[in-house]
Amino acid sequence: MKNKLKKIFITGGAGFIGSHVAESFFKNFPKCNIIILDKLTYAGNKSFISSITKSKRVKFIKCDIINTNKYSRLLKNCDLAINIAAESHVDNSFISPLNFTKTNSLGAHAFLLECIKRKVKKILHISSDEVYGEKITGTCYENQLVNPTNPYSASKAAAEVLINSYKYTYKKEIIIVRANNIYGIRQYPEKLISTSIVNLIKNKPIPIHGNGRNIRFYLSAVDFANALIFLVKKKEKGVYNIGSNFFEKNINIARHICKIFKKNPKKFIKFTDDRLYNDKRYSVSSKKVQKLGWRPKRNLLKDLPMIVEWYKKNYKIFKKYEKKI
Ligand SMILES: NC(=O)c1ccc[n+]([C@@H]2O[C@H](COP(=O)([O-])OP(=O)(O)OC[C@H]3O[C@@H](n4cnc5c(N)ncnc54)[C@H](O)[C@@H]3O)[C@@H](O)[C@H]2O)c1
Repeated sequence: MKNKLKKIFITGGAGFIGSHVAESFFKNFPKCNIIILDKLTYAGNKSFISSITKSKRVKFIKCDIINTNKYSRLLKNCDLAINIAAESHVDNSFISPLNFTKTNSLGAHAFLLECIKRKVKKILHISSDEVYGEKITGTCYENQLVNPTNPYSASKAAAEVLINSYKYTYKKEIIIVRANNIYGIRQYPEKLISTSIVNLIKNKPIPIHGNGRNIRFYLSAVDFANALIFLVKKKEKGVYNIGSNFFEKNINIARHICKIFKKNPKKFIKFTDDRLYNDKRYSVSSKKVQKLGWRPKRNLLKDLPMIVEWYKKNYKIFKKYEKKI
């Protein structure tokens, strides 16, 4: 596969995870042309991919995934299409749920149909561990039924059900990956880690939903991008959980970040109203991909100081956030 990949199409490539994926594919497939499509919502930023858009191998188009007529011809002769574009913040999904259905379900479906029409050889769809719903004890395997509990995870699950059905009708090479929480630089300051860091930079308290005891697993965006490359090189298809073994309560993540800033958590952590429904714990088993030989290499606690440094230098990139606080 390595030598055969000549053209890749990535949606959402100017976002947090998308930019890491685009960079990693650029590095790992040095002869490959990459087309990056992104609507550049509040979460996307072209500067995230400035290191690769200088290259003649990379073409960027600002476009909504739903407007297939604007990019359809660019899918011609693509070896691989990766769908990462999404509305990704659960809190926003309670406020404007239909936006989530539009991009995450309808947009993903429209993109898939266009890939099929243009005979794209392989399709890689990025999903989430949240499609399984809450998992108080134990862990979720790929064959478990989905049971989403909020409009974000429901819109992701809907996309999966649609995409999965095409593997029967079109016998397409389709991979769906369900990732646990991803951490790293460039995440819009609305999720726990990025918000905590930017708030402390601005000497403001960290808001924590409910009692802060909700548990999340964390995987580095770099490890995640490498897992995708691994699956593509292995010519895999089907559903894969991609996760790490590192988990922590939200409150403890906030405490770790306070420690880096040498701030007193009692003063700099503020409990806020909980979400309408806030899954207490997710847990996915990555045994299936690990059996093939993939392992995460990075660790959140070791990476946090580097991430804090990045935000200190770059938080002004997030202009809309600047206006909000
Ligand atoms: N962040 C996580 O912890 C996490 C965990 C598991 C799965 N995921 C999944 O990974 C993917 C990326 O998540 P993220 O955290 O990078 O999200 P993000 O919100 O940071 O980035 C999403 C990107 O998609 C673009 N986009 C949004 N709507 C679009 C549209 N209609 N057309 C084209 N582009 C559009 C945005 O401009 C942005 O660049 C999502 O599918 C999400 O469900 C994320």
